Amino acid sequence: MAKLLLHITDFNEPSWRTSFAAALPGHDVVLRGEGHDPASIDYVFIWKPKLDAFDGLTNLKAVLSLGAGVDALLRHPGLPAGVPVVRFIDADLSQRMSDYVLANVTLHTRLYTRFKQDQDAKRWVQLYPPPAWEATVGIMGTGVLGQDAIRHLKVFGYKLRSWSKSKKGIEGVEEFAGADEFDSFLSKVDILVNLLPLTAETQGILNYETFKKLRRDGLTDGPVVINAARGGHQRDADFHRALTDGTLRAASLDVFEVEPLPQDSPLWALPNCLITPHIAAASSERTGVAYFSRAIIDHEAGKPLPNVVDVARGY
Ligand code: NDP
Ligand code: OXD
Repeated sequence: MAKLLLHITDFNEPSWRTSFAAALPGHDVVLRGEGHDPASIDYVFIWKPKLDAFDGLTNLKAVLSLGAGVDALLRHPGLPAGVPVVRFIDADLSQRMSDYVLANVTLHTRLYTRFKQDQDAKRWVQLYPPPAWEATVGIMGTGVLGQDAIRHLKVFGYKLRSWSKSKKGIEGVEEFAGADEFDSFLSKVDILVNLLPLTAETQGILNYETFKKLRRDGLTDGPVVINAARGGHQRDADFHRALTDGTLRAASLDVFEVEPLPQDSPLWALPNCLITPHIAAASSERTGVAYFSRAIIDHEAGKPLPNVVDVARGY
């Protein structure tokens, strides 16, 4: 019998516990603060780990990440060395992210923030948005989520470019890889979509210098940036500057340097900045419990864990 500890900040732990207990009959599912012996925990299921998250967990068989992104886990000072970290890869989560990307790319191609400002001012100005095939979308990160977003964007007819560490040979996509090809990638992008993991190499990559390298004459009033990955990828102040001086026409931001976005952030008031509170692709309790219960049952039966993170690589 395995013992699973839930440590999922900002999620409904009692509800997830009930679901895990139903999916793992004969196993023990415990919550923080319930007085269990930390050395008896086999698996910890984790999101937004507190500083003491790993205290006393000396016999862990695996760390299970509720999120697809593992940056907060990997930089946690208490993460035990050598214990495998499993991340969430899930069709439901990928679909949610692709929905977010497709919705925002389409809104910006259709000059949504411009027409919303006209509506607010009761102004009737006929501007004609281009068809999708005239807009070039650049996806940063061609992993699980990047490739799913590409699949969806293709159906709509967008021209596609991608940038990642390695090229994948994705049909219908002009691929770029590595730091040397970053500027060429940006030079013909109208709508930049960030789906990178947060690592030392990608920290702060969405900055003013990057924005200036995007194509200016592709879409009406300049380029657009969509960040659905991590707040650490961006400089909030650079977004504010670029969105007010015209370097960027618009942005969609789901993540921020500080979350929740502070009340006094000037980004809130920008009419060309669409803000969502880190909800682009939340992990579902139904599919999350199914995925991690299967992982535990299989691992207890001697099978390998799925989707183990390469800790040295950082994602
Ligand atoms: P993956 O690990 O599957 O993909 C990461 C991609 O980024 C890979 O293509 C990788 O290249 C590329 N990459 C990594 N480092 C670099 C670099 N230095 N330069 C260029 N490319 C790089 O991740 P997922 O697709 O599953 O998830 C991406 C991110 O999305 C997560 O890390 C998380 O931060 C974010 N996320 C946000 C959510 C939200 O609600 N806002 C929800 C879920 C995830 P290569 O393929 O060559 O290795
Ligand atoms: C994730 C997230 O990484 O929701 O899954 O941000």
